[in-house]
Amino acid sequence: MDDPSEIQTFEHDVLVIGAGGAGLRAAIECAKLGYDTGLVCKSLLGKAHTVMAEGGMAAAMGNMDERDNWKIHFRDTMRGGKFLNQWRMAELHARQAPDRVRELEEWGAVFDRTETGLIHQRNFGGHRYPRLAHVGDRTGLELIRTLQDHAVHQDNITVHMECKVVDLVKDGDRVSGAVAVWRDWGRFVNFKAKAVILATGGGGRAWSVTSNSWEYSGDGYAMAYAAGAELMDIEFTQFHPTGMVWPPSVKGILVTEGVRGDGGILKNSEGERFMFNYIPERFASETADSEEEANRWLAGDKAARRPPELLTRDVVAKAIRAEVEAGRGSPHGGAFLDIASRVPAEEIKRKLPSMYHQFKELAQVDITQQPMEVGPTLHYFMGGIRVDHDSQETAVPGLFACGECAAGMHGANRLGGNSLSDLLVFGRLAGVGADAYIKAQTGAPVFDQVQADAALKRTTDILNREEGTNPFLLHEELQEIMQEHVGIVREKAELEAGIEKLQALKLAVEKVKAAGASQYNAGWHEAIDLSSLVITAEAAARAALLREESRGAHTRLDFEDEREEWGQVNIVVGKDGAGEMSVRKEQRPEPPTELSGIARASLEDLEGSTDG
Ligand code: FUM
Repeated sequence: MDDPSEIQTFEHDVLVIGAGGAGLRAAIECAKLGYDTGLVCKSLLGKAHTVMAEGGMAAAMGNMDERDNWKIHFRDTMRGGKFLNQWRMAELHARQAPDRVRELEEWGAVFDRTETGLIHQRNFGGHRYPRLAHVGDRTGLELIRTLQDHAVHQDNITVHMECKVVDLVKDGDRVSGAVAVWRDWGRFVNFKAKAVILATGGGGRAWSVTSNSWEYSGDGYAMAYAAGAELMDIEFTQFHPTGMVWPPSVKGILVTEGVRGDGGILKNSEGERFMFNYIPERFASETADSEEEANRWLAGDKAARRPPELLTRDVVAKAIRAEVEAGRGSPHGGAFLDIASRVPAEEIKRKLPSMYHQFKELAQVDITQQPMEVGPTLHYFMGGIRVDHDSQETAVPGLFACGECAAGMHGANRLGGNSLSDLLVFGRLAGVGADAYIKAQTGAPVFDQVQADAALKRTTDILNREEGTNPFLLHEELQEIMQEHVGIVREKAELEAGIEKLQALKLAVEKVKAAGASQYNAGWHEAIDLSSLVITAEAAARAALLREESRGAHTRLDFEDEREEWGQVNIVVGKDGAGEMSVRKEQRPEPPTELSGIARASLEDLEGSTDG
């Protein structure tokens, strides 16, 4: 065995950090382009949080309704994102998603089929037509399995599992690699690379009620920010309307939107189907305003408007919250989601097998017979690392970001199902971007061991200092702050108080102490993750304070409506000259005329469009 005190070193052309859907797709692209690619996963390969996008991947294939096309998908995405999306990214996504789904099928994904053998597509909130290619309610899992299988058959991908990257290393302005630690035996490892792609997902673990798995600690945001990249629109954090609310041990676990897509309805404690009371003006012409019409839609009447349960997530989550506030919530503080009285039991089990087992095993509820209790859960970051729309490159040369950790695609609110297709489209484009970058470079960047040693010292100080607070307690405190102060509805004084508490917490995190040695030390890794989480939390809270309006997933009680001037700006978070966090508004460029025309066109004008 080699000397354990020695720092291991791997050298790759491209280092991809994160092995969810975006990381895997990026790694595959790099490998196909001929690059020696390192793929680092914080947990085991295949255990990525991507599996939590259950209901499907959105792509305008038109398999269920031939009127669908990329323009309507683009229009839905922009309207869902309240026009704050990066226009070009929404265009690229809508245009390329069908090819990425077909490619996944070629690589072995076994989608549900229509009676004529096409890929089946289900309804989801905010999508005009049934658009989500799916595998029952386990689509994310199938996506990961397929990509994983494809990746491990590429000769030039090396997978580094149970490996946590703690910092990026730069040569002057450009990135030159990263420092990481093996989660099991605690030894450090240097990765030298010409380009680095971040695919690290979101930061939902900063909240106490979340659908996110333990890996989601905002590592990409924190590392990119530290390296000099910018974060954008990070105040837009999506609360998925339907997480489990009972029992407490499973609070926050996702209940797929597929339940509503397949006919489930929401009721309050008085038995009222309350979503009819929450239809925003903007969506009125496309949303059924009576049970009768909603039922006709469910029965397949193409002329009927869609049920209000399929409004966008921001609208549904806020409606559930309002019902609870008004004293009409379910016994455990949510709403009732009923599919049992609407869809035959066998069909529920066939289309939503995971939901059936999840409720049966975790809550002793048979969803074919009884309603589920559900409530909002922190699910997704729309904002994140600012990237170039085509190449996915950040402000740091050679550093790319894709998937949930990158900003721009979803604006103020993401449509369900757009994340799985986002991972594939922009994972691939990040690989293409890295290729162009590497080809334009002269000479490999130098890996600076002094920077690596500083990261190593910062990380091992957590073990070596004499005293400090327990990381698990600090994490709990952080989650309470974010849940209370940066929740589904926000307000100036609350946010300010939250930021003040975060400042104090940040100081405690700088002095956190994990007991024990570096091997198999869960407390140490919790402490390392905490440093990313507090930066993520602070950025989200500060950006939320600055945005004085309500738009999409960001709701301010003191600024109730969308405000024209805020629709023209992005909020950008970066480091100022003194190394402190700075938050500023930045004017958005004018939208491209053609895209703006499509986003604002009537459906009739776009339906059946076949042009490019
Ligand atoms: O509800 C869901 O199945 C989640 C999908 C998504 O977030 O895209």
